[in-house]
Amino acid sequence: MRDDIEEIMFTPEQIQSKVAELGMQISDDYRDKNPLVVCVLKGASLFMADLVRNISIPIEMDFMAISSYGASTQSSGVVRIMKDLETGLENRHVIIVEDIVDTGLTLSYLRDSLLRRNASSVRIVTLFDKPSGRKIEIIPDYSGFQVPNAFIVGYGLDYSEKYRNLPFVGILKPEIYS
Ligand code: XMP
Ligand code: MG
Repeated sequence: MRDDIEEIMFTPEQIQSKVAELGMQISDDYRDKNPLVVCVLKGASLFMADLVRNISIPIEMDFMAISSYGASTQSSGVVRIMKDLETGLENRHVIIVEDIVDTGLTLSYLRDSLLRRNASSVRIVTLFDKPSGRKIEIIPDYSGFQVPNAFIVGYGLDYSEKYRNLPFVGILKPEIYS
């Protein structure tokens, strides 16, 4: 599996120290707010598990699975909810946990959809951000690393459902795609 990786972009140590930083910021900002931390499956699952262990205030957790409509690899922006939240959002402070923001279409849709359920606030924390891929203006409230416009895998991110379990994040060798 590791032979498929061209280059390691972030080591487990770099990831852990960034996740600890994000956890501290969120703990500061959400004191006494009992935020609902929402993991977007499956990509954000590893980030979620590490992030919440770095949040030192009371929180609640919930999970959501979404998929883009259409067959193309390009995000259409219209997402279908495959698994919905179990928690009502009325008067809740929601933090969406994402793996990576690229076009921004998925998150923009998701954020609007959660706001329509009368959440008090909806913020976004993403571990990775590819600002060059944006098709809609959306700035994550908390962001770990900016990445160039390359396809990355590991630490939850997949290619064809593989590589999510890599403890680091890297770039795949081009021959894997072809
Ligand atoms: P948007 O709507 O922002 O969607 O384009 C972001 C979603 O696209 C996927 N994505 C990636 N997945 N490596 C991945 O494994 C990448 O480099 C990458 N870039 C975008 C991902 O599912 C994310 O939630
Ligand atoms: Mg995803």
